[in-house]
Amino acid sequence: MNTKKDKLVIFDTTLRDGEQSPGASMTTDEKIRIARMLERMRVDVIEAGFAIASQGDFDAVQAVAEAVKDSRICSLARAVGPDIARAGEALKKANASRIHTFIATSPIHMKYKLQMEPEQVLEQAVAAVKQARQFTDDVEFSLEDGSRSEPDFMYRIIEAVIAAGAGTINIPDTVGYGEPGEYGAMFKRVIENVPNSDKAIFSTHCHNDLGLAVANSLSAVMNGVRQVECTINGLGERAGNASLEEIVMAVQTRQDLYPVETGIDPVHIVPTSRLVSSITGFPVQPNKAIVGANAFAHESGIHQDGVLKHRETYEIMRAEDVGWGQNRLVLGKHSGRAAVKARYEELGVTFDDAAEFQVVFQRFKDLADKKHEIFDEDLQSIIAGAEEPVEHYRLESLDVHSRSGNRPRAQMQILIEGAEVSAEAEGSGPVDATFKAIESVVNSNADLKLYSVNAVTQGTDSQGSVTVRLERNGRLVNGVGADTDILVASAQAYLDALNLLASGESKRKGV
Ligand code: KIV
Ligand code: ZN
Repeated sequence: MNTKKDKLVIFDTTLRDGEQSPGASMTTDEKIRIARMLERMRVDVIEAGFAIASQGDFDAVQAVAEAVKDSRICSLARAVGPDIARAGEALKKANASRIHTFIATSPIHMKYKLQMEPEQVLEQAVAAVKQARQFTDDVEFSLEDGSRSEPDFMYRIIEAVIAAGAGTINIPDTVGYGEPGEYGAMFKRVIENVPNSDKAIFSTHCHNDLGLAVANSLSAVMNGVRQVECTINGLGERAGNASLEEIVMAVQTRQDLYPVETGIDPVHIVPTSRLVSSITGFPVQPNKAIVGANAFAHESGIHQDGVLKHRETYEIMRAEDVGWGQNRLVLGKHSGRAAVKARYEELGVTFDDAAEFQVVFQRFKDLADKKHEIFDEDLQSIIAGAEEPVEHYRLESLDVHSRSGNRPRAQMQILIEGAEVSAEAEGSGPVDATFKAIESVVNSNADLKLYSVNAVTQGTDSQGSVTVRLERNGRLVNGVGADTDILVASAQAYLDALNLLASGESKRKGV
């Protein structure tokens, strides 16, 4: 009996669709760090961006294509000439490249958005695939809003684009409207009705508007799909995309059911989830499957008792298999440069030159003075704060008084363009007082859109990682700060966001 299973291709779009979450834009450096983690995890295809969207997107696709050698690097392109040429250009240096071109195929999108007849859409799709094939022999075609498209039109366009050279056909549930039984059955019918369907791999790309993205993707797999598009932590447009960690672990845990296996090494899942969360400032909810802080925590006495007697009574996966507990104590205040550098290399972080490493090492030493145990998450948060390109504002010192019954008061020294300025203010809480003190001298006119604090590691000596999202004139930026003192971290994050607003070119693009 042949027990060999089909390969399920894991296509990660954290850096493209994930980045489309409002406020989740990433710099090129941040994208490279995430891409390196995805490569270690053995993700098959990394969608690094939408090359024509902006110069920043183009640079990021190009940089990821140069940095990553083991995963295939992909750029998105609408089914129009300039998009495809730009994607081809950005991918030139990739070891293995893919152009992912798309056009909408549902009646509502064709009529109102594209204002095109179905025949024109079909012609444009074929032309786009042929053009993309001039740059790479790996072309994916997506039928945007595919789950709401007419079956007969889908069959015709899919047959035509496969004949034109598309090797992967993606039928996205763009608006998150699909239901598992229906979405899976749609793939079954498509595969049966398209005469050359055996010449392509079929793919899902599900949005989570009804909380069904993972279920829809897995139902499609049961019906012949062999590529799933997904993101770390389920990041993505609106309610997000199908979450990579849930797809991968469902397939791995239920090998008795699924006719496929992935090539993913799941031990990198938790560290990658943490990295994406710290870069985007999007915390992971504690009860999130696989990567949430409580995903493997048993509170009830009955459960604890069962797990202690025999782990499988209540645990279907092993926490260490997905990377929990990997973030062991690695370094402390006596650790030297070589040890710190080596651990960063293990985390996929390299430094361009000695000066860049020196900044990071100094931050490591400062932190190690305050905190005995330095974990991988601490190292990641040090890096997040070390890439400041423009520093108009810098925190020199902060003094906050807070006593029950009194209004808290913050006093601080800030360097503004190198000149020391004092600021002070009262607020309804210590963080409010800190932000008001900053604003009393900066007068930014920015609106605070989000303030979030997360413990970087466990224990009361953990660093607090703070994200501050500010908006000014339609431009949205995320500032980040990390310190064992969460008020200092908050002030740093606020000033980081102001630096981004002040700099002509933002560290994280506005959305
Ligand atoms: O959701 C969607 O349809 C997309 C396509 C561009 C694949 O992101
Ligand atoms: Zn999408």
